[in-house]
Amino acid sequence: MFNLENIVRPNVLKMKAYSSARDEFKGAASVFIDANENNLGSLAGEGYNRYPDPHQKKLKEKIADIKGLSPKQIFLGNGSDEAIDLLFRMVCRPGQDSMLHLRPTYGMYEVSANLNEVQLDAVQLTPDFQIPVLEVLRQVKDTTKLIFICSPNNPTGNLIEPESIETLLDNFDGLVVVDEAYIDFADVPSWSTRLAEYPNLVILQTFSKAWGMAGLRLGMAFASEEIIALLDKIKPPYNINEATQELALKALEQTEQLAYMIEEIVQEREMLVQALPSLDAVEKVYPSDANFLLVKVRNANRLYSYLLEQGIVVRNRSSLPGCEGCLRISVGTVDENQLLFQAISNFK
Ligand SMILES: Cc1ncc(COP(=O)(O)O)c(C=O)c1O
Repeated sequence: MFNLENIVRPNVLKMKAYSSARDEFKGAASVFIDANENNLGSLAGEGYNRYPDPHQKKLKEKIADIKGLSPKQIFLGNGSDEAIDLLFRMVCRPGQDSMLHLRPTYGMYEVSANLNEVQLDAVQLTPDFQIPVLEVLRQVKDTTKLIFICSPNNPTGNLIEPESIETLLDNFDGLVVVDEAYIDFADVPSWSTRLAEYPNLVILQTFSKAWGMAGLRLGMAFASEEIIALLDKIKPPYNINEATQELALKALEQTEQLAYMIEEIVQEREMLVQALPSLDAVEKVYPSDANFLLVKVRNANRLYSYLLEQGIVVRNRSSLPGCEGCLRISVGTVDENQLLFQAISNFK
């Protein structure tokens, strides 16, 4: 049976969160000399001399509205990379605990595990990039606190079958983290709609992909109120800066434009899926539910260098087990996709 208290690090359970000047005084006042800010003003623009809201109240309310969640089920991080790191620090005791992920996948799970001195167990995805569930359950140990699942998966682009995720949620007593960085490009509901069923489910989403805000660094974690309260307790107090909070609030008013952008990217993705296999250099285009394609090519290293010479940078994934001979290509603008197509068709 999953019991959050059993898996959270004892020091995290015991500790108190940092209490900021903004936490200690709430109400109306005209002179704020409680936070050692510069009261003369800011060289960056009006208002930036003040610390931002550490609880991101307005932003969480707006996101909660859009996602159909309560603000208390939402954690905001400096990119979802911050949420990944905090999940490790919340449950994994350095030098003692372990995590499991499915390969090939997003590299930061491994980096965070290494940084936090957490043992990393990895299970290879099947040839069609699905989870071999029984093998995963066999690998789970008493010390396994986290299982990371990326769906749609980076770099393979596919969604993970929901039944596999359900089986892991039902049979694993640690946290199952479903990273949905690319979910806006897939035609399926988010796992956030299943939070009420699974107390051990954590979902990650980000503003870096469909929302086009990678430079602002804003990621989300959705989970039970208890898990979110713990993440909030251990985060740096002002982890979301004021500019990001303001700009994200503006962006959240533009859900119609978001839908247009997603539609255009998905259309271009499907155009590339149709067009690329006609090229001599291309052996296979894997199906994608994301904003990128995994493409198996003849001589990946040479094609990668050749594209660089043409001024086109793709991601060479050919050395990853399971992705041999593959390049990962983000869907660009119509013009960029045409340039890419032309360039690959001229590759000898
Ligand atoms: C699967 C996945 N998760 C998380 C991230 C990081 O997102 P963020 O920019 O919110 O830190 C990426 C970035 O490429 C990603 O591919």
